Amino acid sequence: MSAPDRPQPKPGILDIAAYVPGKHAAPDAKKVHKLSSNETPLGPSPAAVEAMQAAAANLETYPDGTARALRDAIAEVHGLNPANILCGNGSDDLLTLLCATYLSPGDEGIVSAHGFLLYKIQILAAGATPVVAGERDLTTDVDAILQAVTPRTKIVFVANPNNPTGTYIPVDEVRRLQAGLPPHVLLVLDAAYSEYVRRNDYEAGLELVSASSNVVMTRTFSKIHGLAALRIGWMYAPAHVVDAIDRIRGPFNVNALAIAAGAAAVRDRAHVEASVRHNQAWLARVSEELSALGLTVTPSVGNFVLIHFPAGKGRSAAEADDYLIRRGYILRRVDAYGLPDALRMTIGSEEANLGVIAALKEFLDGQG
Ligand SMILES: Cc1ncc(COP(=O)(O)O)c(C=O)c1O
Repeated sequence: MSAPDRPQPKPGILDIAAYVPGKHAAPDAKKVHKLSSNETPLGPSPAAVEAMQAAAANLETYPDGTARALRDAIAEVHGLNPANILCGNGSDDLLTLLCATYLSPGDEGIVSAHGFLLYKIQILAAGATPVVAGERDLTTDVDAILQAVTPRTKIVFVANPNNPTGTYIPVDEVRRLQAGLPPHVLLVLDAAYSEYVRRNDYEAGLELVSASSNVVMTRTFSKIHGLAALRIGWMYAPAHVVDAIDRIRGPFNVNALAIAAGAAAVRDRAHVEASVRHNQAWLARVSEELSALGLTVTPSVGNFVLIHFPAGKGRSAAEADDYLIRRGYILRRVDAYGLPDALRMTIGSEEANLGVIAALKEFLDGQG
């Protein structure tokens, strides 16, 4: 066999379907409301922007590779040991590093049927095999995950709450999952939307991480803290996991502006609470009003809702998406998640939320 005439990606890379981010543009609309990536309508804390601007005076120096100031701020606010916190260039970075660190070709990683797509991509990128566990009512099914475990399983990803469904599993179920996994299988609890959840039976996973040696929890500054552009994520993990990942992560994977802004953002509790209040009120109202239009809305605990459309012509999710985009409302198609009849809508500003509700009413009334 002759040698290839150009560099070849390793086997499997070209079989991966790239992650498609939410759309940005609605070319025909006067005003655009981007409700496609679960960004916050409240923007970042003013204190975070100020801290970032101050840090911009020193762009010639490398950042602190341990992101100490950011880890200290997170530790202070959440009551954690900073040694067990690892920061990343978005939580994407950390999820990718977990796969690169714990998976080899031949290994399996378990994901949920409608789980966040990045898990599958990074399991494949590590040369391992994603195994899909079924869900019940668009919700993570602990029994299905436990049944999917084989001697090759090395990692299990659970987004709690899950994106794009907005559903969650209670802490007792998360504990039952951990208790049922072999101790060498790493359970990754992705708590990107945890700050929004207002349920007595929900926990993000901090206690389970502290009490176990095979659980990590990831979080992000992209959602409630409104810092998606800066790319900041963090992970709370046992020391042995932090040590392993520290060996392969980029030595400066969190930039200096992100460190400064993130530390200020996490300390601004009033801003976080204002975001939670806005979301609480509008999540309930958007869910009720869309249901009143005859659409099915999956009950969500996050800052977004999954809206199901009838499959018939004239009322489908794809046609609703086109209709909304022409009016400046960008929602998220979720075909790649196996949900071609649904759209995901981020809870936005009052103007955006009411605008989508009104536009969908017109769409369904056939007034478009
Ligand atoms: C469940 C979940 N995890 C992780 C991420 C990645 O967030 P980031 O890389 O911006 O921290 C997202 C972003 O949409 C998400 O929905």
